[in-house]
Amino acid sequence: MPHNSQISLSIPLQMQLLHHLLSQPVWFLIFSSLGLFSLLKHVTHLIGFIFISFLRPPKCLKSYGSWALITGSTDGIGKAFAFQLAQQGLHLILVSRNPDKLSAVSHQIQATHPNTKVKIFPLDFTTSDLPSGIRKLETFLQGLDVGLLINNVGLSYQWAKYFHEVEEEAWMSLVRVNVEGTTRVTKAVLKGMVERKRGAIVNMGSGAATVIPSHPFYAVYAATKAYVDQLSRSLHVEYKSHGIDVQCQVPLYVATRMASRVAAIHEPTMFAPSAEEYARAAIKRIGYEARSMPYWGHALQWHLASAFPEFLVNLWRYSIGIRKRQRCR
Ligand SMILES: NC(=O)c1ccc[n+]([C@@H]2O[C@H](COP(=O)([O-])OP(=O)(O)OC[C@H]3O[C@@H](n4cnc5c(N)ncnc54)[C@H](OP(=O)(O)O)[C@@H]3O)[C@@H](O)[C@H]2O)c1
Repeated sequence: MPHNSQISLSIPLQMQLLHHLLSQPVWFLIFSSLGLFSLLKHVTHLIGFIFISFLRPPKCLKSYGSWALITGSTDGIGKAFAFQLAQQGLHLILVSRNPDKLSAVSHQIQATHPNTKVKIFPLDFTTSDLPSGIRKLETFLQGLDVGLLINNVGLSYQWAKYFHEVEEEAWMSLVRVNVEGTTRVTKAVLKGMVERKRGAIVNMGSGAATVIPSHPFYAVYAATKAYVDQLSRSLHVEYKSHGIDVQCQVPLYVATRMASRVAAIHEPTMFAPSAEEYARAAIKRIGYEARSMPYWGHALQWHLASAFPEFLVNLWRYSIGIRKRQRCR
């Protein structure tokens, strides 16, 4: 009975509310509806962000296969990934240019994770004969159940430069490492994944190509990362039904040697985490979205940047570039 009386009370109230609403001017109704939709959109985004960042369980990375290959694994984000993946129980193939640094990282990993098998493969991605290096890598990988590929190796400019100032050798190296290297290693590893019907690939993109509308004075770097982003998102769709999860991760600044060089970031902060903190967040995202920004402080910056008009963000980036150029003189 109390239930019925509640209903009989609420119906006149609803009618009153409806009548009140209909008596409002049309402009008021339109703006209120738009406000309500916008609020709902923001609340939905916030709930999604909290779930993905803090509550969603990570995938079991060993289920993709027992080996992980990481390029650019002797420093920064790649090295941090290697330690995180060893902790997940994966065996590692470390690919980077410097054999001594590769051995040193391999020993460090085995000292802390004695059950992890580590293989090293020296390869300089700037070499003009990259195809032959990749063929050797393919041979090296034969018989290994490589379930996870972290295409991390990447180069940026040494200094902020106008496009016409960038030397041929510098931009060619950048294209070779960021575009050709990523594409060739993906192809080399993907074949085995298709045969085994399982695998995960993470390509390291950058907020420089996806968050900010432009990256003046670093144009070729941003353009190569836009390539990585689009390649990954297309492969994500192409290989989903083959059991292979392809993802582009888009970090903003991470306190590594690269960030210290291009942005004078020498210490981790809330908005520029250490490589270890980034990698801890990053491995929880593997296997999910086609494009992912794993670190919450980066996602917050992305959200703030998207609230500003494009021309203001462009002006801001331009002035940062000009200041960097002045500092370098
Ligand atoms: N740090 C950031 O703020 C940031 C932001 C967005 C995206 N990213 C992306 O994240 C990835 C990793 O960046 P990071 O900051 O960790 O870079 P990093 O600290 O400079 O480390 C780069 C790694 O790649 C290796 N490497 C460099 N050139 C190579 C070459 N020609 N051939 C083979 N290996 C080479 C380095 O080897 P050595 O140890 O021998 O030098 C090192 O292990 C890059 O793709 C970068 O574009 C970084």
